[in-house]
Amino acid sequence: MSTREDIEVDLFLEGVYRHYHYDFRNYSRTFIKRRLNLIKTLLQCESFSMLQHQILHDPHLMTKILNYLTIQVGDMFRDPGYFLSLRHIISSYLSTYSSIKVWIAGCGTGEELYSLAILFREEGLESRAQFFATDINFEALKRAEAGIYAVDRLESFENNYRHTDPKHSFSSYYTIKNNYAVFDSALKENTVFYNHSLVSDSVFAEMHLISCRNVLIYFDNSLQERAIGLFSDALIRKGFLGLGAKESLYLSPHAGNFTEFQRKDRIYQKMALQELPLPRVRGHIKL
Ligand SMILES: C[S@@+](CC[C@H](N)C(=O)[O-])C[C@H]1O[C@@H](n2cnc3c(N)ncnc32)[C@H](O)[C@@H]1O
Repeated sequence: MSTREDIEVDLFLEGVYRHYHYDFRNYSRTFIKRRLNLIKTLLQCESFSMLQHQILHDPHLMTKILNYLTIQVGDMFRDPGYFLSLRHIISSYLSTYSSIKVWIAGCGTGEELYSLAILFREEGLESRAQFFATDINFEALKRAEAGIYAVDRLESFENNYRHTDPKHSFSSYYTIKNNYAVFDSALKENTVFYNHSLVSDSVFAEMHLISCRNVLIYFDNSLQERAIGLFSDALIRKGFLGLGAKESLYLSPHAGNFTEFQRKDRIYQKMALQELPLPRVRGHIKL
């Protein structure tokens, strides 16, 4: 039997979906409840129903609440081993293509994008790469596009960068203005920033590399399946998919379309056509 809280959360999420088209209905329930309880306390609402009433009548509040329902924690070159592996993939595999499409899905405030753009520049492929940086949070996308970060974050960025076999000095990528590091705008020259939801939108281009880190952890199994299905459809054969340190294709029905390229860094490669398992219909191979 559902608890009263569960029913109220269901109704809240349904209301937000029907009124604002933000669909959090299949996010991890534990995560959503934790965040909604926090919002409820901050807004001094006695119940989720009261919270729902406030949100449905105040679009500005919805924008604020979106920032609580989507976590914006990022770091440049977060988990440096992942970026070191990507450096190898970029120089040894992606360099064989004349143009390279890269999708940073759930890009947040842009740290992952700039890390990748730096790798492509250092491997001499900047001009061949086209980046698509997508997210459902407008404010995060605006910050990603600005590429400006507080100076007190630079130490962590640089420490991570040092472990990725760097080719330049990290300080060559930004200038300091009033306690902020403004990243070289040429790094985002080949980037399209736009609103795209892994819950409700579809594939928009063929990709050579998809990096979607620390997003699937907020989804329940059905949503993870949907997102991984999108990635599988979007990737070219032999294209690469990178996930976050706590994410994997384990148990995904789409796992059979991929090989584990670098297990420890959660990097997968889509199989070539001849490697794919053939679907069987009543004991016969369907061609
Ligand atoms: C923790 S951040 C990760 C940012 C970045 N990928 C990284 O690892 O640094 C999670 C991001 O996923 C985004 N997100 C959440 N739900 C999403 C959805 N349905 N479609 C696309 N992005 C989503 C959030 O807005 C947030 O920016």
